[in-house]
Amino acid sequence: MSTSAPFVRFEHRDGVALGIGEARPRLSWSAPTGAVQVAYELAWHITSPDGIVVDQGAAVVEDDARVLVPWPAAPLPSRARAAVRVRLRDAEGVWGEWSEDAVAERALDAADWEALLIGPAVESEDGDRRPPLLRADFTVPGAVKSARLHLTAHGLVRAEVNGARTTEDTLLPGWTPYQDRLRVHVHDVTDLVRTGANAIGIALADGWYRGRFGFEGGTSDIYGSHIGALVQLEIETDQGSVVVASDGGWRTAPGPLDHASLYDGERYDARFRPKGWSDPGFDDESWDAVVVHDLDKAALSAPDGAPVRCTEELHPVSVTADGDGWLIDYGQNHAGRPRLSLPALPAGTVVTVRHAEVLQDGTLCVRPLREAPSVDQVVSAGEPLVWEPDFTIHGYRYAHLSGIPAKPEPGTIVSRVLHTDMRRIGWFECSDPELNRLHENVRWSLRSNFVDIPTDCPQRDERLGWTGDIQAFAPTAAFLYDVQGMLVDWLRTLSSEQERFGHVPVYVPWIPGGAFWRPWQDIAGWGDAATLVPLALYQASGDAGILARQYPSAKGWVDHVEGLAGESRVWDEGLQLGDWLDPTAPPENPMEAVTDPHLVATAYFARSAAALAEMATVLGLTEDAERYAALAAEVRAAFIARYRVDEAGAQDASADTQTAYALAIAFDIVTDADARARIGDRLAQLVRDSGYTVATGFAGTPLVTWALSATGHVDVAYGLLQSHEAPSWLSTIDRGATTIWERWDSMLESGDVNPGDMTSFNHYALGSVADWMHRVIGGLAPAEPGYRRLRIAPRPGGTLTRATVRHLTPFGPAEVAWTLDDATLTVAFEVPAGTSADVDIPGAPRAVAGPGYHEVVVAREDFDRAGHESSVPLPA
Ligand code: BGC
Repeated sequence: MSTSAPFVRFEHRDGVALGIGEARPRLSWSAPTGAVQVAYELAWHITSPDGIVVDQGAAVVEDDARVLVPWPAAPLPSRARAAVRVRLRDAEGVWGEWSEDAVAERALDAADWEALLIGPAVESEDGDRRPPLLRADFTVPGAVKSARLHLTAHGLVRAEVNGARTTEDTLLPGWTPYQDRLRVHVHDVTDLVRTGANAIGIALADGWYRGRFGFEGGTSDIYGSHIGALVQLEIETDQGSVVVASDGGWRTAPGPLDHASLYDGERYDARFRPKGWSDPGFDDESWDAVVVHDLDKAALSAPDGAPVRCTEELHPVSVTADGDGWLIDYGQNHAGRPRLSLPALPAGTVVTVRHAEVLQDGTLCVRPLREAPSVDQVVSAGEPLVWEPDFTIHGYRYAHLSGIPAKPEPGTIVSRVLHTDMRRIGWFECSDPELNRLHENVRWSLRSNFVDIPTDCPQRDERLGWTGDIQAFAPTAAFLYDVQGMLVDWLRTLSSEQERFGHVPVYVPWIPGGAFWRPWQDIAGWGDAATLVPLALYQASGDAGILARQYPSAKGWVDHVEGLAGESRVWDEGLQLGDWLDPTAPPENPMEAVTDPHLVATAYFARSAAALAEMATVLGLTEDAERYAALAAEVRAAFIARYRVDEAGAQDASADTQTAYALAIAFDIVTDADARARIGDRLAQLVRDSGYTVATGFAGTPLVTWALSATGHVDVAYGLLQSHEAPSWLSTIDRGATTIWERWDSMLESGDVNPGDMTSFNHYALGSVADWMHRVIGGLAPAEPGYRRLRIAPRPGGTLTRATVRHLTPFGPAEVAWTLDDATLTVAFEVPAGTSADVDIPGAPRAVAGPGYHEVVVAREDFDRAGHESSVPLPA
């Protein structure tokens, strides 16, 4: 057995997991490459904060399981600290090294909260709502052994102890329907608290809670008219425990921010920063008493995912004079905010940063932002200053900086990339630099839109958890990053909003929808997030717990659609967004697609019923499994009878489309082998006839390459993917895209920005083709949920001469790398410990491979004979 030790994780959390919600967290661990595990031993040591041992022990389990294994010890009480390690035994009976201790601490129970929700007096909506500061002094009698800050807020919050920030995490506590669920974050502040006099300071802002947010100018006070913080600092000393809890004795005053808004940006006036406000002994006599607000402590809950953090800093690639200031190009569209290092400017000098994704006529194009101006301002106090806004975020590649006397040095104007801090687990690289750029664009759109919840876009006055977008993109996302924790958390919100409204809203959390959107609109492809997102997460992680938790929601959705479709099983009534934004949709009407929207709706009904049957099977709900499998079969039959897609060209024009065939094939609606081949051929013909241009929107795009490769047209799929003829993926690269666009023509061929008022340059849905790149070009996919069995089936094609795909599966790293030249196709691959792989390489006999490194060499003529003809099965 290799000597490198495994490492242990709790649930879907990385690193030290403070404030976990589970009393019995499941454990997973890596295994050294090449290791064989026939048994494992877990050892645990559970203590209360004052060091009393709650439970300790060890257990040997004769099993090769190491993903999400059940908790071996006593349930964790509130505040308990668990240190867990593992060692593995191989087939020869030899034990490997013990892992390091992995550490988790349990969140507070509702009954443990002494703190009260406190804030400034409630101001009216149109009054002066300057973001406040809150503070309190406290004394610690003995030497500090440990200190934990439990923190949440109505609004956005950050904390300081003795003048230092408690964390680099930002936009806390994120966005949930706060009345149902308010997430608590826990920070280790042991190093900040000291014996004797201490102080704690809290900065608050409106955020999603009561800041202007949403359509048509937005709505303020969505969750309430007050903001407030809930703070409980628990300190262990050699003289016992100290609890510092927010209460009516704390003081508050407006801080240095004039305003802070997610859409508007932030204005910081350094002249009004109360020096030393979070240090002990600060004179807060002129500050006001805080107001205590009601809070249902039952809503307090632990986050499942990581918080938002800065994960990278971008430096300008160019700075050029522009009007009254400087135009900065960061070279990459992204979500983040600036950090400025300013010299001593005369007191009162205003420095302004504006943001935009694109330029029009050489200057910032802010029209697509609609009512999200995204302007940050800092007012100098006459001293040098390093400043980054705290409570806002923008989507941009370009910035315009004004108010400084000379051209800024690049290092003084960095952009801080912000998103949920997820672990990267997927990579793709090939011989076509433009495909590589496309893949990078997908990854950047993922990063830009996984900001606490999965959003549609990071820049304009939306940034909402649109269900249809993540429904399309979840499989791609789950390959590239460990998105499990964040999406599990968001699915809780989907369930609770569904419960609140009796429908799956088109975006969750739900907020007022302007003139058009209502929570009871049932939209196919959007509501299907209830079934298809949990399934995508399960496929990637093997976590059946996600299916169990989401099952009532998924079933609720399918039952609801069953009622809407009625006996006909065809869902042909009501508003549908259909194949949203197919390239023929005019700028002003994104739902005017060529494919019949009710065809799309009925196809999704069939897919979701089948998905639910699959979930029921995994969960052992046999009756449901049969019932929904039968329902899916009825819907499929009704779909074929109504839309006659199997006539392949002879039917109505609105069903003779790339999207209609893609749905019929990829959702396994047409299963008859002849009919399937016929419509696959018809789809390929449509693509060829269009000159290899894309004709699909949100519904068809994730599926069209799959439908082609599943019916023997891998070459046509490559043709479409590598085409530069607009509309196509690569034509966006030719027009300078660094992220995936919302529309195929967000930037027109002329170089003008699309005149539609819905024009974003950073929407991930159309980037869902990357899933096909991973699984078909690279040839790496799970053959069983969670990669316990892998499928290694690359399909070299197009102009490519090599490709590499790599994924950190729950069992460890897997990789496929192939090269193709005139003489041979060489496929090298790595199968993780504890797994096996079904290997299907064109021109080579099918095989099953065990853990380790393998290489298969195929003569070029054998590959050519098998190559493009060999179909690829659909993803599970
Ligand atoms: C969003 C989309 C969303 C759509 C649905 C748009 O404004 O940006 O991505 O799915 O509305 O109508």
